[in-house]
Amino acid sequence: MTVRSLGYVVVETTDIAAWRRFATDLIGLMEGPTGPDGSLRLRVDERPFRIAVVPGKSNRFVSCGWEFRDAVELAEAVATLKKAGVDVRPGTEAEAANRVVDQLFHCSDPCGNALELFHGRCYDYTPFASPRGVSGFVAGSLGMGHAVLPAPQLQAARAFYQRLGFADTDEMWLAMTPNPADPKLGLHFMHAANPRHHSLALMGAPVPSGCVHIMLEARSLDDVGYALDRCIAGGAHISSSLGKHSNDFMVSFYVQTPGGFDLEFGWDGLQPDWNTWVPTHSLISDLWGHRWSPPPPPKS
Ligand SMILES: [Fe+2]
Repeated sequence: MTVRSLGYVVVETTDIAAWRRFATDLIGLMEGPTGPDGSLRLRVDERPFRIAVVPGKSNRFVSCGWEFRDAVELAEAVATLKKAGVDVRPGTEAEAANRVVDQLFHCSDPCGNALELFHGRCYDYTPFASPRGVSGFVAGSLGMGHAVLPAPQLQAARAFYQRLGFADTDEMWLAMTPNPADPKLGLHFMHAANPRHHSLALMGAPVPSGCVHIMLEARSLDDVGYALDRCIAGGAHISSSLGKHSNDFMVSFYVQTPGGFDLEFGWDGLQPDWNTWVPTHSLISDLWGHRWSPPPPPKS
């Protein structure tokens, strides 16, 4: 039993139009047919959506949807969590229909991040075609990309995800002040049963939006450059300049989504051989670039 990949993420918004413009015009995602719950469905591959933007009363990150191979592995995961005292609730048929899956369960990790555990995702056989000419995204069996979640109780969160079958890839301890005696910011990078360097990372600090960032991986460096140009021209906040991470070697920039969290638009992330991989320990986050800019003040 183990998580196969990050199947999707769900976001709530008060402004569907802002998300549609951001996701299609700037990022170049493909819009699918509207969901039964009125959600904006955003595609990067053959799945009906990888980001569901649900209309609501707040702007927040709602949940990650983690994919299991079949009903047997999903049932094993649910039993494992229940045995550990986790409150797991079965999703309704309507909720499964909204996610275009056979079956799903809801729960939360020790830091309050919501999860959906599912199996039986349907396919959309309309070929992926970006409205802005993105050549394609690295997704499919690798999942949609990765998510980085706030985890102030870092070790408890890591133990929770290990129970679901995630394994360690890398941990990073970043100095936040010049004083070496001050506490460092910890991040745990974890992989699922697919070649992506990490499908999940946990950051040892709270984040008001409910998510540090999500990552989508394009098929070419030019896709990244063109997307960066579109985001700048479109007035989006560039949270970080182009750079290359020290652990997964992803070349990427970060842009703030209308949900208040960032989207990392990357290329050429590492795909380790898990048979020979030994978890690593990083003391810097980047080989070059990734200069961060504080977010703009909220609109009054
Ligand atoms: Fe990332």
